[in-house]
Amino acid sequence: MEKRPTPRAVLFDAYGTLFDVYSVGLTAGQLFPGHGEALARLWRDKQIEYTRLVSMSGPAHYRPFWALTRDALGFSAESLGLTLTPEAELRLLNAYRHLSVFPENHGVLQALKDRGIRTGILSNGDPEMLDVTVKSAGLGGLLDLVLSVHATRRYKTDPAAYQVGVDALGLPAREVLFVSSNGWDAVGATWFGFTTLWVNRQGAPLERLGTAPHHTGRTLRDVLACFPD
Ligand code: LAC
Repeated sequence: MEKRPTPRAVLFDAYGTLFDVYSVGLTAGQLFPGHGEALARLWRDKQIEYTRLVSMSGPAHYRPFWALTRDALGFSAESLGLTLTPEAELRLLNAYRHLSVFPENHGVLQALKDRGIRTGILSNGDPEMLDVTVKSAGLGGLLDLVLSVHATRRYKTDPAAYQVGVDALGLPAREVLFVSSNGWDAVGATWFGFTTLWVNRQGAPLERLGTAPHHTGRTLRDVLACFPD
């Protein structure tokens, strides 16, 4: 693979990368014993499927990530035969607003800040939900930018969505390290032109899409290895 410059800024995917989307499994398991994990997984898959469907069908069909997240929950519960009362829905959506952060995140973001490297989020999440979750996780002071694709009415992996990061940083894509735990997002960002790190937290196989991310790791700490002293 071609040699890449040392990145000058880092953009993180939010859901799955900084925030543990499967942490809702705990609440789901309390509400639906024995089904927590299945509901959390289907909910996530459906949410992402919906982003792709509306994005593929053009901006007129765009709906904010929060609306897709809510409706993906309703679909997932019904398809698993679970009765989602308004109270249960509220509890699960509230858990989604206050997702757990992975334990190494604060230290890694602080280390980047100490080295003067600009950092931000670039997410499918709409600005309001990102704001709540970033604050709840205590990451606000550690990130320079929290960017949403919302204004483009396109979701990743549409190039217009990744372009939001380039425009905000004013850097060429190859000088930005894009970090995602979602294999498909890491590939999409590589297609776009970012230098990429796939944080493969789940030990998932590489997506068979003809492109591999530039770097692969297992935790957010692997970001620091992309910045040789
Ligand atoms: C995001 C989702 C896709 O934060 O993980 O963009």
